[in-house]
Amino acid sequence: EKAGYDHFMLKEIHEQPKAYRDTMGSRLDPSGKKVVLNEVGMTPQQIKAIRHVHIVACGTAYHAGLVGKSVIEKLARIPVETDVASEYRYRAPIITPETLVIVVSQSGETADTLAALREAKRCGARVLAITNVVGSSVAREADDVITTWAGPEIAVASTKAYTSQLIAFYLLGLYLAQTLGSQDDAYIAEVIAELKELPEKVERILAQSEAIKNVAEQIATHDNLFFIGRGLDYAVALEGSLKLKEISYIHSEAYAAGELKHGTLALIEEGIPVIALATQEDLFEKTVSNIKEVTARGAHVFGIHSEGHYELAKAVDEVFAIPATLPLLTPALSVVPLQLLSYYASLARGNDVDKPRNLAKSVTVE
Ligand code: M6R
Repeated sequence: EKAGYDHFMLKEIHEQPKAYRDTMGSRLDPSGKKVVLNEVGMTPQQIKAIRHVHIVACGTAYHAGLVGKSVIEKLARIPVETDVASEYRYRAPIITPETLVIVVSQSGETADTLAALREAKRCGARVLAITNVVGSSVAREADDVITTWAGPEIAVASTKAYTSQLIAFYLLGLYLAQTLGSQDDAYIAEVIAELKELPEKVERILAQSEAIKNVAEQIATHDNLFFIGRGLDYAVALEGSLKLKEISYIHSEAYAAGELKHGTLALIEEGIPVIALATQEDLFEKTVSNIKEVTARGAHVFGIHSEGHYELAKAVDEVFAIPATLPLLTPALSVVPLQLLSYYASLARGNDVDKPRNLAKSVTVE
């Protein structure tokens, strides 16, 4: 059932190109110019009436929601807040009938996410669910459901569900944009064309797994490390850090690169590994400055950049290039080396990769 892979997690990492294709599937109009989301029942009038969006989820799904915030704000120009469900539901959030609440859940059974959904509905908001399980509680109770067609995810550490959630956000962002007229047709067509290329680009990353394995084996000997990045790279850094903690039990922190000098830089000492994401074109130079702050203090930096920015190699100890794409779409590529890094670090430490200690696949208690 693991289809020749040693673990479900590795199988699921490798299933991502298919998960991307299946989640995009018939939702991309053959013209290449628009997104078709028949499962979203909102009328154009209802979409135009949305004043704010709240994205609510837990764990990895929350991290997908952080990317979703940038995607919807950029494409649809509607203000978005992303919150963890266990905070959102108890903070008396300001929810009105003009709020669209998006809940994200692989299983569709997470207790806090379901409670947040119910609270949103009680306040009169429309709720849209992004979930991987057809017929789950979240899917049944939401007004609209975008199903991620990632297929069953068995490993506790979420991989293909996360990236499929990103694809769902790209589709939704484009759908809102084309309904609101917030982006011109040529840009929408460009994003769609780039989306279609993602599966093949993921395959190219997977073909370089051995390089990531070598870095993972070095990292596995450490007890502390940092992930840094700016903008969408920061959102992906948070996900990379969670994944590593969850299955390798190595302590790590994800930091917005520009925040380091406001305290955390004090923890950087000789030899500490820092994983630096520098895939965002407009933030590249800024991130490189932050990388220099840690290398000057002896950190061993593993940098991830987009093809083209080979000069990063001069600023760091080791580099990994992801195929070039639009800055907005990089999370769907840059997270893949981080998933592999966690997998191989966990393996190197002899852990039970698919069933990490203390954790359950579906958190149905508060
Ligand atoms: O089923 P859900 O997407 O609602 O689950 C949310 C989290 O429990 C889940 O993403 C968790 O953080 C993963 N184990 C992380 O890999």
